[in-house]
Amino acid sequence: MKFFADTAEIAEIRELAQTGLLDGVTTNPSLIAKSGRDFLEVTKEICDIVDGPVSAEVVALDHDGMMREADTLRKIADNVCIKVPLTMDGLKTCKALTEDGTMVNVTLCFSANQALLAAKAGATFISPFVGRHDDNGFDGMDLIRDIRLIYDNYDFATEILVASVRHVGHVLESARIGADVMTAPPKVIKALFNHVLTDKGIESFLADWQSTGQTIGG
Ligand code: E4P
Repeated sequence: MKFFADTAEIAEIRELAQTGLLDGVTTNPSLIAKSGRDFLEVTKEICDIVDGPVSAEVVALDHDGMMREADTLRKIADNVCIKVPLTMDGLKTCKALTEDGTMVNVTLCFSANQALLAAKAGATFISPFVGRHDDNGFDGMDLIRDIRLIYDNYDFATEILVASVRHVGHVLESARIGADVMTAPPKVIKALFNHVLTDKGIESFLADWQSTGQTIGG
């Protein structure tokens, strides 16, 4: 499963990129607003750090406006992936852009039927929002299971990008189901490293090592 970071914070992206675990980045208008940075400038900076897809979202609601914004965004770098909302205009835009060789991430997906439409429109990625689904009394991971089943039934190439990930349990379940990608805030990706027994093990190994009085090398 590929790991994308859901952030527009350069320092966090740089740190995660150094681990070799980062396969891409997703941003959205709220994350850009939170960063306080210029959209085009920060997107260019992210594309310079990460080789994989970097999602940049259009804000126009009509097809022509989305195409105009996508034209500006895709000029930033070859790895820009245009993010469009799951609306009729969004999917018209998705079809036009993918036919033109541009990667498209269809966002704000909350049903398996919507995911089916996105795949038929040729989306590179579909982004079902599991956390927001959970917040509203549904089971976000059931949505991922349904989409996996439907995409496998018809051999759709669209990748399932689990979005709105809130905790490590979402990551584990995404991997169990066989999602292609998950995008999570850096704090969730970092939490994947943690285990109390790892910490305890390091502590006891260090204490025993110190009791030997030895050093390794110089
Ligand atoms: C995905 O591409 C979105 O940017 C993101 O995952 C939304 O997450 P949120 O529901 O935590 O805002």
